[in-house]
Amino acid sequence: MAQFIQRFHADKSAIRDELLIGLQEPQASTSPKYLYDALGSKLFEAICELPEYYPTRTEAAIFDAHADEIAVSVGRGRTVIDLGAGNCAKAARLFPVLEPAHYVPIDISVDFLRDSVNTLQQRFPEMEITALGVDFSAPFAFPDNVGPAQRLFFYPGSSIGNFSPDDAVAFLSRLAQAGDRDGGLLISVDLVKAKPVLDAAYDDALGVTASFNLNLLNHLNAVLEADFDVRSWQHVGFFNTELSRIEMHLESKSAQTVRWRGGCRDFAAGERIHTENSYKYTAEGFTALLERAGFTLQQAWIDPLGWFMVCHAKVNESLS
Ligand code: AVJ
Repeated sequence: MAQFIQRFHADKSAIRDELLIGLQEPQASTSPKYLYDALGSKLFEAICELPEYYPTRTEAAIFDAHADEIAVSVGRGRTVIDLGAGNCAKAARLFPVLEPAHYVPIDISVDFLRDSVNTLQQRFPEMEITALGVDFSAPFAFPDNVGPAQRLFFYPGSSIGNFSPDDAVAFLSRLAQAGDRDGGLLISVDLVKAKPVLDAAYDDALGVTASFNLNLLNHLNAVLEADFDVRSWQHVGFFNTELSRIEMHLESKSAQTVRWRGGCRDFAAGERIHTENSYKYTAEGFTALLERAGFTLQQAWIDPLGWFMVCHAKVNESLS
């Protein structure tokens, strides 16, 4: 049986406080991690199947085309620490070449992770699996059975794009500190490309991304005991070229008052809640960011269109 450790019982009042601070700012905002309640996680899986959403299939093609090279670069038999493991499918695809000694999936969406891991343990009965239900965007400690040696941090999907560049450096620096001399990072990043391609990837024809974004309001209603009317909001998703990031917002269709336990807020027609940023990098820009965080790029793999990059980086000698 896979070991399942929920380090911190999701602190409901801390979550409420964080959400309410963001919602009461003049420019309302919420952290993108709140997009992933149980339904949100399923809607994100559906996004990954969309024709417009190129990152998932492009990354999969890179992993498939270069699996052996990747395994040679990162080394076999590592402790693979999967950050934001979700359904664990990406790591599982690499198991045959990476042959992890220990697999440590981490995800904030605890129930979703539990289901994924139980299925995975049946497919790989011999593998040691320790699942952690934590919010890894904040500092956390590993349990004793996850040793410090030979850690390979696996951060696929270009999720690093959710951090601002400065926050990404701070986050990756923490990973560099947590890795030993043999420590490594296998990370994906989405590259800057033509705006229409980016716009469509975050505002698809079927409206799945719109549903994913709007479902945040269902989550807020549950957590805050709020009365957001999902039908009176609309999805906005576009590439902000100046800031090199996708922005997602929820826009109020009319003037309205939203109430929650202990408070309320008026929203004017057209007023927005900023729900996500997803930064896009050039290959050079991201290599420089890894350097700032204490990593040295070992090897990078890019698809033929130049849309997406998978990087293997090692902890700098001076840190290890
Ligand atoms: C999971 C953060 C990588 O930014 O592409 C997809 C999330 N949001 N469509 C991304 C997302 C809207 C996704 N990441």
